[in-house]
Amino acid sequence: MSRSPDQQPAPALRYYEDVSPGGGTLPPRAWHAASSAPRLSLNGIWRFRLAPSADAEDDSFARPGYDASGWDELAVPGHWVLQGHGSPAYTNTGYPFPVDPPRTPDENPTGDHRRVFDLPVDWPAAGAATLRFEGVESCARVWLNGTELGTFQGSRLPHEFAVGHLLRPRGNVLAVRVHQWSAGSYLEDQDQWWLPGIFRDVTVEHRPEGAVRDVFVHASYDHTTGTGTLRVDAEPGGRVSVPELGLELATGERATAPVEPWTAETPRLYAAELTTAGERVPLRLGFRTVAVEGGLLTVNGRRVLLRGVNRHEFHPERGRALDPETMRRDVELMKQHNINAVRTSHYPPHPAFLDLCDELGLWVIDECDLETHGFHAVGWRGNPVDDDRWTPALLDRAARMVERDKNHPSVIMWSLGNECGTGRGLTAMARWIRERDPDRLVHYEGDLSCRDTDVYSRMYAPHEEVERIGRRAETPLLDRELGERRDRLPFILCEYAHAMGNGPGGLTEYQRLFETHERCQGGFVWEWIDHGLARRTPDGRRYFAYGGDFGEELHDGNFVCDGLLFPDRTPSPGLVEYKKVIEPVLIEGDGAAGTARVVNRHDFADLSGLAFTWSYEVDGETLAAGEWEVPPLSAGAAADLKLPDPPVTERTGEAQWTLRARLASDTAWAAAGHEVAWARLPAPNRPPAPVIAAAAAPRRADGRITLGPGAFDAATGALTALGDLPVTGPRLDVWRAPTDNDNGAPWQPEERYGPIWRGLGLHRMRHRVDAVETTDTTLTVRSRVAPAATDLALAVRYRWTATADRLRLAVSVVPEGDWSCPLPRLGVRLGVPASCGHARWYGGGPGEAYPDTRAAARVARWELSVDAMQTPYVRPQENGARADVRWAELTEPSGRGLRIEGQPVFWFTARRWTSERLEAAEHTPDLLPSPDTVWVNLDHGQHGIGSQSCGPGVLPEYRLEAAPAEFSFTFSTLG
Ligand code: GAL
Repeated sequence: MSRSPDQQPAPALRYYEDVSPGGGTLPPRAWHAASSAPRLSLNGIWRFRLAPSADAEDDSFARPGYDASGWDELAVPGHWVLQGHGSPAYTNTGYPFPVDPPRTPDENPTGDHRRVFDLPVDWPAAGAATLRFEGVESCARVWLNGTELGTFQGSRLPHEFAVGHLLRPRGNVLAVRVHQWSAGSYLEDQDQWWLPGIFRDVTVEHRPEGAVRDVFVHASYDHTTGTGTLRVDAEPGGRVSVPELGLELATGERATAPVEPWTAETPRLYAAELTTAGERVPLRLGFRTVAVEGGLLTVNGRRVLLRGVNRHEFHPERGRALDPETMRRDVELMKQHNINAVRTSHYPPHPAFLDLCDELGLWVIDECDLETHGFHAVGWRGNPVDDDRWTPALLDRAARMVERDKNHPSVIMWSLGNECGTGRGLTAMARWIRERDPDRLVHYEGDLSCRDTDVYSRMYAPHEEVERIGRRAETPLLDRELGERRDRLPFILCEYAHAMGNGPGGLTEYQRLFETHERCQGGFVWEWIDHGLARRTPDGRRYFAYGGDFGEELHDGNFVCDGLLFPDRTPSPGLVEYKKVIEPVLIEGDGAAGTARVVNRHDFADLSGLAFTWSYEVDGETLAAGEWEVPPLSAGAAADLKLPDPPVTERTGEAQWTLRARLASDTAWAAAGHEVAWARLPAPNRPPAPVIAAAAAPRRADGRITLGPGAFDAATGALTALGDLPVTGPRLDVWRAPTDNDNGAPWQPEERYGPIWRGLGLHRMRHRVDAVETTDTTLTVRSRVAPAATDLALAVRYRWTATADRLRLAVSVVPEGDWSCPLPRLGVRLGVPASCGHARWYGGGPGEAYPDTRAAARVARWELSVDAMQTPYVRPQENGARADVRWAELTEPSGRGLRIEGQPVFWFTARRWTSERLEAAEHTPDLLPSPDTVWVNLDHGQHGIGSQSCGPGVLPEYRLEAAPAEFSFTFSTLG
């Protein structure tokens, strides 16, 4: 937009408002964990002071003589807002300052950091040295011993300065001024907390005469010959040795040798060393070739299927300042959950993370630190990626990523960034990247034309669209040429299955599409971890905070908590589900015929690393078990196998086989015995002989009706006791505390049932008892359950029958009126004494499951306390249902309690608060246990979960339509 003539000309820009990448830094180069040259880590305690604006303080603090002893102390790496100075703030896409690029607001928190250090006594007296910053958010100005070195932007990218001439043996003073906001902030609008600070390592590296300036390893693999080709580009005159391959070659020279290739499943690395006149740098070589061939993404000549996640760097106490243990934990957890790929959303991670990916084996899309999503709000006006003035900064970012990470075999694609719209700057980045590294692919999602990319990538496309893309029948592009090019590209979902709160649903169906259509090469669940920040209530209870909890004027609430891990890295049910859905070994078969088929779904590895077992169970009790001989099938192969003869038994009941694949020996990411895949195959059942018990008759006395073990209120027909156990009668319940996926995202065009259900009043249903009738053997209660202000209703009949010790409830529900929306749940809710805090059940478990998130629920006998049955979603919401429950028991420590059997199986939920209390809670400490009641939901149906908090809603087959239904439960007492 142009300025009107009477407006003042724009004021001169300050260095932190400069759209250029900054000045004074060295050209970027490859990162290596170690070298023979000495290094000094400057991580540790620094002096720190915070100013509210960028220009408030002078720069005298940079002078060696300055006395900073009165300043606070701050841990570096770290974010000052997580160490008691100012506050973190969360926005998804909106910039938390006016969009007026490249200007920053007056309120620009600025942290002065100061560190005095000595060189180690054995530090070489002469020679060059660099001062290296791995990550500073968002703009830094740096002085060493009073001399200004320069400024830089690009928060999650490395920056180095030449400092050899300034270093002295003792008393060096490093001063760093960090501005929270800069021109660079316009390029860093990722959906995450805004966390300023020096949040990654700071190092001084000696650079001896003749040191390695940079190194670029090219290690490819020819699957037709089984040979690897190596060329290491570095200073002329350098030597590279690979002892295991007997290779000794000069830098720039090519050598070929038979090798084992690197893949994410078989991460074979060869130790090598680069030697120059002044330095030795250890290298780890992984030979592999990435390509698009015949419309498919291949590695070493084979199609790969990406079973991925999007990973932000996050720690609940330290934000994006991750320690090595946390990084390793992430990779281990991914591997343990069958994940084989990671997109480093939305910036290059700490470089050590990529070493772990090389070592343990993950395919990586390395993404540039670039997102300008907030320009969407202003019609993309002024979008930096389409404004040539910003292109040098974009190219600088691309170069810093590629140069730093170019030697990692795990990195198979470079991603230009995330959600930047479209523009010439992106094309310039892609061009530069291809030129510099033609051996990897280029990824970007935000441009449907795919003009700059090697893969067609989308986010949150619904199943039916993915199916169309798989059949190459998607909506054509207007530009024919680009359209034809796109049609030839492999397809991935760089984000899908939004794991916010309870969910995501529909994973199984996506996976089937990826397995069916060769063009659909998998995807990356959004996202790995909830970014909830650890806090405590005044009385010391720990919880996780989200947007708005720090008084932000503008924020996006708990949209920042949408991961497969809880903030403390406990796997959520979503991760357990994902592990099952993507398991790399498929076991299916016919338990009755005693046959099973094993399919090796790895892309490269055979099954020799796995040991298989079988077990035969009746009613969840194991009668026999043993090892199962499965041949070491090669990748993609299948075998039809026979199961052992089932044990001879008199036992009646429900029989099943459980077949398991486990690690045969220890790996770098899990111990021997770790389960990789499993299956349950039903076997022929032997029904028990029917027990004919005399029917009990209802008796009325003193305003009560008794029937078998049940006591009822004669006026309302409500069950008040079961034996000597007081209960709050089971009555119809359709409400659930809406999940984030029920609520959906406000921008979703489709119906969002959370708000619709609330609007209808399903959370405040009224129960009118119309009749309490008895016959010789039955007690029937008729009621009408309906919300105010509408004529919609559910006509309910509760029909009770009993024997002396068992009470049976048959529920029949008939909807009245025009129900155009599904129900949240359909079942009964009852209250039992709070002392009944221990649950045992036979059915799906051990974790929660819902209709479209139930792949991981296995039918067995389970036992947990009611407290442990809760899933602690950061924002409380419906959770904790167990699927396919045949029977459940709730008991006191004494053994007294009740047993519930379902006809048919049911969804079992028990919690110490009602759904209404669950819904009202905003954080976990708001959930206060009821002193006297455990609330139990026995559901005939649950509506699916879907992924509508950002993606598609519940698939039609998982909708719980309001339709006539009948179901029953049998209650008995225990102890
Ligand atoms: C995507 C975006 C992610 C995240 C996600 C929703 O559009 O790329 O960064 O915001 O939506 O959680």
